Amino acid sequence: MDFNLYFAWAAWITLLIIVLSRPLADLLQVKFIRKIQLKRKWIGLICGAMVVLHVVVYSITFSVSLKFFFDSSYWDFAKFTGWGGLAFVTMIPLLLTSNNYAIRLLKRNWKRLQRLTYLFFIASGIHIYMVGGKWPLTLVPMAIWLTLWVWAYFLNLSKRNKVKQ
Ligand code: HEM
Repeated sequence: MDFNLYFAWAAWITLLIIVLSRPLADLLQVKFIRKIQLKRKWIGLICGAMVVLHVVVYSITFSVSLKFFFDSSYWDFAKFTGWGGLAFVTMIPLLLTSNNYAIRLLKRNWKRLQRLTYLFFIASGIHIYMVGGKWPLTLVPMAIWLTLWVWAYFLNLSKRNKVKQ
């Protein structure tokens, strides 16, 4: 396996931990998962560092100039490059605002901005699927995440309605 791909898979695994911990914490009420959820800021930073290393090590190994990123042919969503690029671009504001100063500054907008995590996750999943077609490692976890997310959403909704009554 190319060296850059160790970083790439580490990025995908940490991203899965981040997105799955939220609905799992709501559904299972397990302390360990709640603890992971509380540490997701740090896991997010590790994920971001892994993505940057994946791209940089790939560019160095295959002598690909980062100028390629600014070429219109790169942003083709019929190819894996466009989706990888979209994931990378959505990751930047998430990384920059992953600190207490940004939370204080952005107030309620910080939570809104955090929703970009879903776009980052979906674009990354499509990118990886388009590279190697490894559906058990991409489409299956994405489908599990979607199911858990919808389930946790309706569970929280019914809890809120009970409190109101
Ligand atoms: C600008 C952003 C990105 C670029 C330029 C890029 C580029 C690439 C390239 C060229 C490959 C194929 C490498 C090879 O076959 O040796 C690849 C594979 C991969 N990328 Fe990315 N990538 C980007 C973003 C991401 C992101 C955000 C993630 C995950 C969070 C990711 C995860 C992966 C994984 C797991 C593979 C391996 C797929 C396989 O083994 O079948 N990449 N990427």
